[in-house]
Amino acid sequence: MTPDRDREARAILARNDRGGYTVPTAGLYPYQWNWDSVFAALGFAEHDTDRAWTEIETLFRGQWDNGMVPHILFHQIDPEYFPGPNVWKGTGPIPSSGISQPPIAATVVRWLVGRHPGGEPRARQLFGPLMDWHRWFMTWRNEGGAIVVTHPWETGRDNCPDWDRPFAAIEPDGITSYHRRDTSEVQTDERPNSWEYDRYLYLVKLGAESGWDEAHLKDTTPFRVADPTMTFTLLRATRDLRALAERWGQPVAELDGWIAEMEAGADRLWNDEIGAYDTLDIRSDAHSGVISNASFLAWYAGVGGDRMLAHFDRIAEATRYYVPSTDPAHPAYEPRRYWRGPVWAMLNMLIATGLGEAGHADRARALTENTRDLIARKGFAEYFDPRDGAPLGGQTFTWTAAVWLAWASPTTGRLTWAA
Ligand code: DGY
Repeated sequence: MTPDRDREARAILARNDRGGYTVPTAGLYPYQWNWDSVFAALGFAEHDTDRAWTEIETLFRGQWDNGMVPHILFHQIDPEYFPGPNVWKGTGPIPSSGISQPPIAATVVRWLVGRHPGGEPRARQLFGPLMDWHRWFMTWRNEGGAIVVTHPWETGRDNCPDWDRPFAAIEPDGITSYHRRDTSEVQTDERPNSWEYDRYLYLVKLGAESGWDEAHLKDTTPFRVADPTMTFTLLRATRDLRALAERWGQPVAELDGWIAEMEAGADRLWNDEIGAYDTLDIRSDAHSGVISNASFLAWYAGVGGDRMLAHFDRIAEATRYYVPSTDPAHPAYEPRRYWRGPVWAMLNMLIATGLGEAGHADRARALTENTRDLIARKGFAEYFDPRDGAPLGGQTFTWTAAVWLAWASPTTGRLTWAA
């Protein structure tokens, strides 16, 4: 079975390749998504290093003057996707959304250049743009070292229960009728509901009306939530950027400052009541009280020691396939609905990486094997039901194929991050 999965994974990357960039899956997501694309680069690196670099370079062609790298680049207009460029009104060099996504790129660039030193000149070209992107986060999205988002889509965890309370405080004025396209591709019970969707569009409208003015949004938007996905991936990526800076004799003082700030800021995400990292709503100063798969990115960020270990073991025991995107013990857990329960392979790769680096090799191995078994049996779905591994959402999905090739496959998966 396994060799077929390798071949299928490569075929999925080839099928979703639009020439210089990869779509997450045809139909549902017909554009270049930021972190999807960086995971795709890892998959390509297994058999085509040149194509891996191109993927990241194409993403950075969409970088805005203020340093932000958008979550979607609308390279070729596809009227089947909503909300498209006319709704977002991005202000960068390529039509785009107006928000960003978890910064995995510096980490992957470091890994790529470590494994293929021939890519050194291309990596060096990306160093300045990566610094500008990280500086954008530290300037506009920094609340005492915890990194905030201004839209749930920015975290990638679109409809997780963390947003329920901040969303309940929002009245989506002026959002009347619109035609969702995602629910014609995927069953309704596997996607966000319309109460959430109204609020997603309301936040897009607020941003677009301001011309994506971060200073203005910082003061006015009702949605400003510090998030473990953003904080932990940015902290990790900044450590990797620092390693690159050292390698090339670049100054590291600014990077050291950011790392120290985020190490302290990570504590703001610690919720004593549940003994776990979760989100912190800056507007109401309230934690969500939800343990998510993003809570377990603490090891990947190099913080927290063993603080999350007991929750990890409990949740790993609770479902056949793990790590579910919401704690199964939480009342909002829905095992089929997108980020309210299902398992996501690329998050598992980051969690396992962190576990391994933190000295929990046994747990890292068990999680890797669990994900390997899941994909080997169920294929390359966007996400999976933790109870039986049922494939959900989009099929022939780029990031599931990519993390199979880079990490989960027994024959090709060779991922070790610290190069
Ligand atoms: C969607 O279209 O549902 C995406 O998750 C937005 O990034």
